[in-house]
Amino acid sequence: MGAIRVLEPHVANQIAAGEVVERPASVVKELIENALDAGASRVEIEVRGGGADLIRVADDGSGMEREDALLALERHATSKIRRAEDLKAITTFGFRGEALPSIASVSSLRLLTSTGGPTGGTLVQVGAGRVERVEPASHPRGTTVEVEHLFQNAPARRKFLRSQATETARIADVVGTIAAAHPAIAFILTSGGRQILAAPSVGTCRDRAAALVGPQSAALLLPIETREGAIRLTGLVSAPALNRSTSRDERLYVNGRPVRERRVLHAVQDAYATLLPRGRYPVVYLFLEVRSGEVDVNVHPAKAEVRFLHPGAVHGLVRRTLVGALRSSRPTQMLAPLSQGVSEAAPQAGAWAQDRGLDDRLPLATLAQFRDSYILAAAPDGLLIVDQHAAHERVLYERLLRDSLARRVERQRLLLPLTVEVTAAQRAVLEEASETLESLGFTVAAFGEAVLRIDEVPAVLPVEDLEHLVGELLDEFLEWRKMEGVDRLRHLIASTAACHAAVTARHPLQNEEMERIVADLMLAESPMTCPHGRPVLLRLTLDQLEREFRRK
Ligand SMILES: Nc1ncnc2c1ncn2[C@@H]1O[C@H](COP(=O)(O)OP(=O)(O)OP(=O)(O)O)[C@@H](O)[C@H]1O
Ligand SMILES: [Mg+2]
Repeated sequence: MGAIRVLEPHVANQIAAGEVVERPASVVKELIENALDAGASRVEIEVRGGGADLIRVADDGSGMEREDALLALERHATSKIRRAEDLKAITTFGFRGEALPSIASVSSLRLLTSTGGPTGGTLVQVGAGRVERVEPASHPRGTTVEVEHLFQNAPARRKFLRSQATETARIADVVGTIAAAHPAIAFILTSGGRQILAAPSVGTCRDRAAALVGPQSAALLLPIETREGAIRLTGLVSAPALNRSTSRDERLYVNGRPVRERRVLHAVQDAYATLLPRGRYPVVYLFLEVRSGEVDVNVHPAKAEVRFLHPGAVHGLVRRTLVGALRSSRPTQMLAPLSQGVSEAAPQAGAWAQDRGLDDRLPLATLAQFRDSYILAAAPDGLLIVDQHAAHERVLYERLLRDSLARRVERQRLLLPLTVEVTAAQRAVLEEASETLESLGFTVAAFGEAVLRIDEVPAVLPVEDLEHLVGELLDEFLEWRKMEGVDRLRHLIASTAACHAAVTARHPLQNEEMERIVADLMLAESPMTCPHGRPVLLRLTLDQLEREFRRK
């Protein structure tokens, strides 16, 4: 983290100022955001008395040297912006240099911090806004902030605090909200010595959601992913079966920052309008990535709201995406999806098939292909309709992922190396991406300033269209490297490659080809959805058939 400086008054005056410390949960939010800005990979939060007695947030981020630790407690002292122009392109959570001094003015605050360097750590003790003690202290790399006796010198504010249980619940909500957007970062929250939230570092938002809402609810979350112009939308939205009595679990993030935005929430409501009874609300995690010029985050003192330059476009994109995702989930509900009762974690290949009495020795009989796009197959207890592209994609995806982790992806050497023109941004991420690309079977090297050379590609991949594919992969890398870990990248690369390599819809298949796809699918770990989360197969059970034909 760069050095801290006091903002010049004309910059400070342009910041949406105001009270940032409304209640204990706001302290927790500010301290966690500082930890994230400092690059922490683990954040531990401990509270007592609903946060009024103690809030302690410990991180393993960059830490501060003595001088910065002192400056951090001054008003408008920040390392995150310098000039008024910087307000237009904010990429950190903090930018006002207000949080720590505001908190310190209404509590006793201890700051323990170290950069892990030879100068050692520092302790700063502040009471009612005045520095009382500064001394060397030992602390591992990172920062711990302890806030005691919140609002003791502000009785009016203290009076407004609700019960300990309510304030603790608000704190847990804040921690969960932030944790949802940062799956790779571990969060632990304890209250009164009891652990109330534990979210270990994981690879995907879905895994993180499982830690937050429980694995059974998480299984009802449908992934979404779209991009339109300068806006990218990803996230998870609940199938109608998962709903709540309040809209609290409708969570929106803009460039990683949790916010409320009326129009987006409207769009969510619109999308679920016919699917949920009145007074019920879905669970959604929407992650909007927009260019910083497209959104103003400096409009609300607690940074809880943002203003979009083109709110209509955002609204439209959210609505359309949700409607699409929910529509594709509906037929499965009508047709009793095979996933019913199958836990998310079916770790070994084949475990799923055995669960259902469809072991490997008993292949499904493929019956026919419908419209060159769907495979009809007979299972012992019903009829399956398989989307051939989605099924093949799932099979290839899992194979690629498995082989890549074991570093044994089958490769094909191109007869003539292919050269691909790339943009400066794509070229710049190549170095970072090349290891992941390599493990997935691509050998790609820079070849001059704006050209890449591809020597080897995964054997499953058709050679046509490689140029386009590699460009797409680098773009994905660019888009995601800031936010997610290598696993997410591996997933993206494997799913993109699988999508390109899989048989397409409207493609006639031989009998053996259909049998192969269905047999492989039955051995997949997650045969129900394609890597993008769309359904792979529908099942009409014998029982359903007999009911429909009134034989029962
Ligand atoms: N946990 C931390 N680890 C490392 N540095 C920190 C930490 N917390 C605060 N700092 C440093 O102290 C400065 C002041 O923090 P503070 O939260 O008051 O302001 P800010 O984050 O810059 O802006 P905002 O008021 O919008 O949060 C930060 O800019 C940062 O340099
Ligand atoms: Mg801050």
